Formats: sequence, C-alpha cells, structure tokens
Amino acid sequence: MKIFLDTANIDEIKEAVSYGIVDGVTTNPSLIAKEKRDFKETIKEICDIVKGPVSAEVIATDYEGMVKEAKELASISEYVVVKIPFTENGLKATYTLNQEGIDVNMTLIFSANQALLACKAGARYISPFAGRLDDVGHDGMDIVLDCQEVVLNYDFDTEVIAASIRHPLHVQIAALNGVDIATIPFKVLKQLFKHPLTDIGLEKFLADWKNANK
Ligand code: E4P
Repeated sequence: MKIFLDTANIDEIKEAVSYGIVDGVTTNPSLIAKEKRDFKETIKEICDIVKGPVSAEVIATDYEGMVKEAKELASISEYVVVKIPFTENGLKATYTLNQEGIDVNMTLIFSANQALLACKAGARYISPFAGRLDDVGHDGMDIVLDCQEVVLNYDFDTEVIAASIRHPLHVQIAALNGVDIATIPFKVLKQLFKHPLTDIGLEKFLADWKNANK
C-alpha cells in the first residue's frame, strides 16, 4: 500500500519523508489555510521535498474556473495532482483535464456510485472519506472497500486513496484489504509506530545489557 501524508505542514512532511515511507502528499483548502502561507509556494515546496504525487485542490466550483485553476496548479510542478470535488462540474472538468494529460484526484467521494462515475470520467485517483462517513453513522471503511472493488471489477486506471483517516484501525483495514493508498495525518502516522510491547521489550534489552556490563 502506498502511504500519502495528509498535511500541508512542511516540518511534518520533512520528518515523515526522512522515515522513507512517504509516497505522496494530499492537501485540501482547510489544511492549506492552517499554514497561513502562500498556496502556490507551499505546493511547490512540498513537491520539491516529496518528488511524488502532491494533491492541490481547486477553489472554483464552475467548470471553466476549475479547468483554469487546475492548469495553473499543474504548471507549478510535474508532481502536482489536481484535486477536484465530486460535483457535476467537477466530473466535466475531470474529463477535460484527463484528455489534456493532467492527473486528477476526485475528492469528497462518499459512495461506490460516485467512485464509478469518477473512474469513468478519467480520474487518476479517487478519495473516499472514511472518517466523515463514520461521523454520520456509516462504516466509512466499508465504503472505501466498495470503491476499491469498483476499480478492480472494471480494471480502471484509477487508484483509490482511503482519505479522512482518523486512527490506526482505518490504516490497518486499508492495508489488510489491498486498498491502493491511504492518506494519513501526521498524528496518526506517529500512532502507527507505537506498541507497548516494543517499548517494554527495548527497556528490558537495555536493562539486561547494562546489568551484564557493570
Ligand atoms: C483528503 O484528501 C482530505 O484531505 C482529508 O483526508 C480529509 O480528512 P478530514 O475528514 O479529517 O478533514
């Protein structure tokens, strides 16, 4: 499974990249706003660090505006993937951008039917949101797995990104079921390191070593 980092914070990205486990980054307008920096400069810096797919989202909601913004974003770096929300205009824009060779990550996907349409329009990635579905009483990871099944059933040239990941169990379910990618917030990534038996085991090894070498 590829691991993307779901953040626009440069320090977090640099640290995670140093672990050698980051395949890409996703951002969204809320994550960018949190950093209080110039949008395009931030995306350029992330691309230079990650050298892999970096999702940057359009703000426009009309078709022409989305296509125009998408082209501007794509010109920042070869690594930019344009994030387009799943709307009728978004679908049209995805179709156009795919024809022009610009990779799209269709975001705000909440059902297998939306996933099907996004794949057919030519989305390079689709992002079903697990955590936000959990929030409204669904099993978010079930929907992520449904989206993955749609892609596999028809062999679409689309990768599924399990998004809105809130805790390590979301990551584990994605990995055990062959989801292509999980985009993980830095805080959850750090939680993946932790196991009490690792800490206890290391403490014991070091104590035994110290005792034997007194
Ligand atoms: C996806 O690419 C989004 O940036 C993100 O996963 C949204 O997560 P949230 O629901 O925790 O805001």
